Amino acid sequence: MTVGDMPCRPTRDARKHHDTPPDVAYGPPGLPRTIEWVGGDDGFLRLLDQTRLPREVVFRECRDAQTVWKAIRELCVRGAPAIGVAGAYGLYLGARAGRDEPRDAFLTRMREVAEFLDSSRPTAVNLSWALRRMRAAAQQSPDTSTRSLLAAMLAEAHAMAREDAVVCRRIGECGEHLIPEAGAVLTHCNAGALATVAWGTALSLMYVAHERGRRFRVFADETRPLLQGARLTAFELHAAGIDVTVLCDNAAPSLLAAGAVQLVVVGADRIAANGDTANKIGTLGVAIAAARYGVPFYVAAPRSTFDLAVNDGHAIPIEQRPEQEVRGGFGLDVVAPGVTCHNPAFDVTPAELITGIITEGGIVQPVTRENIAAVLGG
Ligand code: MRU
Repeated sequence: MTVGDMPCRPTRDARKHHDTPPDVAYGPPGLPRTIEWVGGDDGFLRLLDQTRLPREVVFRECRDAQTVWKAIRELCVRGAPAIGVAGAYGLYLGARAGRDEPRDAFLTRMREVAEFLDSSRPTAVNLSWALRRMRAAAQQSPDTSTRSLLAAMLAEAHAMAREDAVVCRRIGECGEHLIPEAGAVLTHCNAGALATVAWGTALSLMYVAHERGRRFRVFADETRPLLQGARLTAFELHAAGIDVTVLCDNAAPSLLAAGAVQLVVVGADRIAANGDTANKIGTLGVAIAAARYGVPFYVAAPRSTFDLAVNDGHAIPIEQRPEQEVRGGFGLDVVAPGVTCHNPAFDVTPAELITGIITEGGIVQPVTRENIAAVLGG
């Protein structure tokens, strides 16, 4: 089935369970905001500190590019779309320090800050996509004064934040019909509201289905080593009133083998031109098990997560993170001193294991270069 044969379902019953439609900018009710700009052009970026969830809801205030870089690197803000929007605001903050410089010096500064921010994490392509878009907004500004370039950049960052919420909501509306009535869905890592400005990608399907009265349960892989599934996915689904159960990553195959799950849906950090998809480490194992037991395996991602410059998954850069995260990420060392730990943050699932890719522009199914090109062109 091609993209054209399988459009998003119309939002025919969107109002059935709502007197007023949800404000897409805010996402599912009951959650703190992942990313928020506070104030005007002298304002700052406020990030929900996800390293502290679910124990504490605290925020980090970023007033320069360095603190944004650190927040991305340390996973205070994480998830491909959220990293992109945080990077956009980070570039504005870094450029703002050159507000009194002449245009050429300002543009040089902007390029250097963009390269710096881009070095924070390598796999999620949304970051370089967002930084490129910010630089283009400044360069294309008709008024060439430095102050005007800065104003254009802040407006672009705000536009990207708003768009991310709208796009994620749309992904949920495109894919919600896949959520089985009275069935179960398995997800890995966190591709939810916390990974985006609002709604999430994989979890957006669940929020929309829940809003429309569908009854289902979710199994959330804990997602070693940093436990995004246990700490973040369970936190946000539970806050929204969705039935969620956490399992150890190594329990997922037997759950699939038992026929206890009718759908797997995950997010993505970068999708190559042929559909090979990088996502949180462990996704590949889930996809292999889903294929073995005949359970549909979907990826949900915005169009900004595709990277057509990358021919296939072999060329996707995979972030290697510190050994300590495996050795004893949450305070207790469990590996004998002197033993080496292997800690890739992502793996690549080949397109042949992916049933479909749910985007804001339709579902790519089957996952082929042609169908990807069609959905990106539309
Ligand atoms: O290391 P993280 O927490 O940034 O990894 C996040 C993921 O792998 C998500 O699944 C992906 O970014 C999609 S988020 C909508």
